[in-house]
Amino acid sequence: MSKVAVIWSSPNNDGLTASAKDRVIKGLTEAGTEVEEIQLNKKHVEHCRACGNGWGTCNKTGSCVIKDEFADIYRSLAEADGIVWISAVYWSDMTEAFKAFFDRLRRCDATKNHLMADKRCVLVACAGGTGRGTLECLTQFERGLSHMGMRVYDRISVVRYNKDYILGALEEAGKTYAKTLETGFDMYY
Ligand SMILES: Cc1cc2nc3c(=O)[nH]c(=O)nc-3n(C[C@H](O)[C@H](O)[C@H](O)COP(=O)(O)O)c2cc1C
Repeated sequence: MSKVAVIWSSPNNDGLTASAKDRVIKGLTEAGTEVEEIQLNKKHVEHCRACGNGWGTCNKTGSCVIKDEFADIYRSLAEADGIVWISAVYWSDMTEAFKAFFDRLRRCDATKNHLMADKRCVLVACAGGTGRGTLECLTQFERGLSHMGMRVYDRISVVRYNKDYILGALEEAGKTYAKTLETGFDMYY
């Protein structure tokens, strides 16, 4: 049985992002996947201090000097077979909570540990405005994931105009992703 981490961020516990997360988890669970849900806004994760001359010590030690919940979340992601990243769209980008976490993850992982390399992921961006910002948000996410060697299996925009049909599709996405984690991916780049 595969294990999937669903890491999501929105300060809103009953908004669009939370609904998207619920539906992906429903699909994954129905397909028999073990899910670990991580709500980043409830975690204590400080931003990178860019210590030393900017490269810090993480590029040699693989760990961050800040003692908060970052290391626990990193471990959960490293242990997962797959990861679903779900963010509310703020300023056409991921949330501040995601940016803080992502910066530190990239430094520890891309420069030293390489625990995230080759993980297959699904990306979901949830926007309440025009929805155009989902594209930039997804692009930013994928750029960071690529730095760590991760691969994106699907990129899904959730906007207020498509939520009536896209939430159902997210459930199906969860099921298909679960199946694909078991049977293998034929997508490379
Ligand atoms: C600070 C801030 C910036 C936002 N920027 C954008 C944006 O660039 N594009 C967009 O479509 N919506 C934007 N929104 C709207 C959010 O994407 C919308 O509220 C979305 O539903 C957030 O997810 P939630 O329902 O989980 O709160 C912004 C909202 C906030 C609070």
